[in-house]
Amino acid sequence: MDFAWSEFFTSILIVSGISGILATLMVIADATIGNYGELKIAINKKKELTVEGGQPLLTALKNKSIFIPSACGGRGSCGLCKLKVDSGGGDILSTELPWLDDKEKAEKIRLSCQLKVKQNMELTIPEELFNVKEYKTEVSSIVNLTHDIKEITLALLEPAEIEFKAGQFIQMEIPEYDLTDEPVYRAYSIASAPSMKNSIKLQIKYVPDGISTTYVNRHMKVKDKVIVNGPYGDFCLRNNNRELIFMATGSGMAPIYSILLDMAEKGVNKKTTFFFGCKEKRDLFLTEEMKDLERKMTGFKFVPSLSRPREEDNWQGETGRLNTVIKKYLSDTSEVEAYLCAGTSVIESYKNALKEMGIPENRIFYDDFG
Ligand SMILES: Cc1cc2nc3c(=O)[nH]c(=O)nc-3n(C[C@H](O)[C@H](O)[C@H](O)COP(=O)(O)OP(=O)(O)OC[C@H]3O[C@@H](n4cnc5c(N)ncnc54)[C@H](O)[C@@H]3O)c2cc1C
Ligand code: FES
Repeated sequence: MDFAWSEFFTSILIVSGISGILATLMVIADATIGNYGELKIAINKKKELTVEGGQPLLTALKNKSIFIPSACGGRGSCGLCKLKVDSGGGDILSTELPWLDDKEKAEKIRLSCQLKVKQNMELTIPEELFNVKEYKTEVSSIVNLTHDIKEITLALLEPAEIEFKAGQFIQMEIPEYDLTDEPVYRAYSIASAPSMKNSIKLQIKYVPDGISTTYVNRHMKVKDKVIVNGPYGDFCLRNNNRELIFMATGSGMAPIYSILLDMAEKGVNKKTTFFFGCKEKRDLFLTEEMKDLERKMTGFKFVPSLSRPREEDNWQGETGRLNTVIKKYLSDTSEVEAYLCAGTSVIESYKNALKEMGIPENRIFYDDFG
């Protein structure tokens, strides 16, 4: 009996040892040798790229000037970089699973930042993404809009002009510095009108210890060269006669300001209310610009609300969260369309409030800053 047990344990040890060695060899092969050589990526059955194997698909495409939307810089935490991989993608990875529903899995949708190019691939990429370009820009001004939001103006150097729709965003490259040992990309909504083609404005809110926003706050200066790519996104006005409401907090102002400037320039003048939430008066910005828009568009009203005004704010306007404030202003919601821009949890709470007021989900559009 003793002999049988020792034989059993010896066999387990041998099998585990061999599996361990094989697994280690595979990891080493994948990480260090990574010798997949040159591989082919066929796109939309029309064109073929030759890329270096072993890199994430998102990076391989970017290196060939095909820019797939990404807001988290390839960390698998935004879910924007989805692509249809018709063949050569291998099994879905555990890091992709939280972002893919059953329909997407069946349709071979994958997260391009997680998937590495390890064999020849066939992809289907929406045609509009081929219009996305990389732009070399120069910082032409940095203005403090509030104590934690900066307006950055980027003058376009090459190409010298950009075409975008009001409400879209770009990805900005943050170079290697003490918080990151490689360049990272972050998404920022364009906060200027599409008619201004030779520069773009961004409104960037400081996130403590955030890689991009710390860089912008501590290191970015006028005349710095900055790489961006875009435009991306469909947080744009739908073409109909519905009454509009916008709801935003903080730098969620950015895409909505671009949409409002565009409306004013094009003479669109329908009933529009912009509810803007802040904590206290020092978080409010662009109030003069909003008054100017109210003068230009008689159907437009700006309604800021402070959730925790200080006594010295001497605030006479609305107070409390926008979920409650909107109820005072909206009696008939039968023809209302809503556009929301904020962080994920705030958007969820706005959506719920709007749905409770009878606005169906298909009339609620949002830009989730994460
Ligand atoms: C489509 C889109 C458009 C966007 N447009 C804008 C814009 O116009 N202006 C703007 O300021 N931001 C915008 N963002 C957010 C922006 O992309 C970055 O996520 C943000 O600037 C933080 O980047 P970071 O590198 O400084 O922080 P990271 O290094 O990415 O994050 C550091 C830590 O902060 C947390 N964190 C990340 N973002 C936030 C946040 N917003 N608030 C609180 N905690 C956070 C992270 O979970 C992490 O723990 C947009 C995002 C998306 C998806
Ligand atoms: S780039 Fe954000 S999940 Fe892929």
